[in-house]
Amino acid sequence: MKQALLSSLVITGAVAYPWVAEMPGVDSSLFKERRAARPWRRQQTGEGAGGPDTCPFNPDHVPAAGITDDYPYNGAQNGLPGLGIGGYQVPADGDDAHQFVAPGPNDIRGPCPGLNAAANHNFLAHDGITTFNELVDAQQNIYNVGYDLAVTLAVLGLTTTDGDLVTEKLSIGCDATSRTSVSPLLTGSEPGLDGHNKFESDSSLTRDDFFTHDGDNFSFNGTLFGMMDDTCQSNFNREGLSVYRNQRWHQSQAENPNFYFGPLTLLLYGAASFLYELMPNGNHNYAPDLETISSFFGAAQNDDGSWSFNNEERIPDYWVNRVIPYDNTLVTLEIVAMYLENPVLFGGNTADGSFDTLNWGAIQDGKISADISATDTSCLLYQLATQSIPSYANSVVEPTVDALAFALSKLNPSFENLGCPIALTK
Ligand code: HEM
Ligand SMILES: *[C@@H]1O[C@H](CO)[C@@H](O)[C@H](O)[C@H]1NC(C)=O
Ligand SMILES: *[C@@H]1O[C@H](CO)[C@@H](O)[C@H](O)[C@H]1NC(C)=O
Repeated sequence: MKQALLSSLVITGAVAYPWVAEMPGVDSSLFKERRAARPWRRQQTGEGAGGPDTCPFNPDHVPAAGITDDYPYNGAQNGLPGLGIGGYQVPADGDDAHQFVAPGPNDIRGPCPGLNAAANHNFLAHDGITTFNELVDAQQNIYNVGYDLAVTLAVLGLTTTDGDLVTEKLSIGCDATSRTSVSPLLTGSEPGLDGHNKFESDSSLTRDDFFTHDGDNFSFNGTLFGMMDDTCQSNFNREGLSVYRNQRWHQSQAENPNFYFGPLTLLLYGAASFLYELMPNGNHNYAPDLETISSFFGAAQNDDGSWSFNNEERIPDYWVNRVIPYDNTLVTLEIVAMYLENPVLFGGNTADGSFDTLNWGAIQDGKISADISATDTSCLLYQLATQSIPSYANSVVEPTVDALAFALSKLNPSFENLGCPIALTK
């Protein structure tokens, strides 16, 4: 029975994307290997943190509030490119549909403050079950993320966390397979953005490592927010965050016997750059200051100076977004620059207490070289989305044929323009 199910899946994949097998360079054995053992696939158990048993269920799913003629923002809708012209206030005065509404007990929130805030302002569905198009539109309309990067992040969100490639739905937090999946029996579990070691990795800015906290933790940790604020001295720029990322690497390496710092952690450098590239407020001269950053993170300071989560990840009042779109080229330049200011090793702790480095694309002997070429830099995200990635415990995250086809169909035009070698084989 299991075998029959598996082969019907393979057929579905090939039928859904028959052109993939025909493309030059495609290794058609991928079709056969699809859905072989995938040890990374599901790290949460049913009862565990982030698993389906504890994941909130909101019977009243209301899609995101779209843009209107009165409040057009960047004009981004239906997953298409918007104007790419920022410098306007979000939410606009009078736009009641996008005012802040705190999440209720039935709403799902996860490890990403940028998306949590978007859901709290109804730019994504308020219950946290969102779609590819909502993600692409919201990133452009709120933050003036460039269309190419908005698509790349949405693709990574859906493919690396097992969002559903047929419904194009994704949980921004815990496992909500019953609502994201086209058919849970066929797709298996879809852990959502909480799923570990795909998009969600060790040594986050304000989230605990997975293994040191019982399979959590996508929740905000006030101690870590305080450490980040101290290190950055309330100025969350590249210099400060580079030092802090390095500090977090050393902390995880020392405290977490299962510490794994793989290629996907490059995304954590990207996310860190969002603090000074996407979150700053034009009404504060675009300074990445504490008032702005704490608002997006839902961080409230206590009388003793410590920090707690207030469940109100929100766009600050009178917030004006960035003027020029933040695109694939800009973010990869920041990722590499932040890394190179305070380099650390890619790889993972091993059972005997040593640290194994890895090789992958531009990462050689655990390091990215300062001589990395412009093309290799621009193509980092493309490689993350389309190539096999060494993962935790010597497993390899192999894009399934569906995931690869999905990624290629959404990404190829923009990355081809950047001159990325269009890599289709393993
Ligand atoms: C489709 C788009 C996006 C997806 C799928 C996504 C997903 C994620 C995930 C899975 C994480 C957790 C990584 C980890 O800590 O291990 C994360 C972190 C983060 N994201 Fe996003 N994100 C998206 C867009 C954005 C945007 C537009 C912003 C900013 C405005 C943003 C800001 C952040 C920040 C600051 C973190 C780091 C939080 C921390 O480490 O404490 N993200 N995102
Ligand atoms: C995860 O972090 C939250 C907030 O910091 C905390 O309340 C919770 O106990 C943590 N969970 C685990 C399993 O460590
Ligand atoms: C928060 O992070 C600190 C520093 O890593 C850690 O000692 C503490 O256990 C974490 N708290 C929770 C509730 O997870």
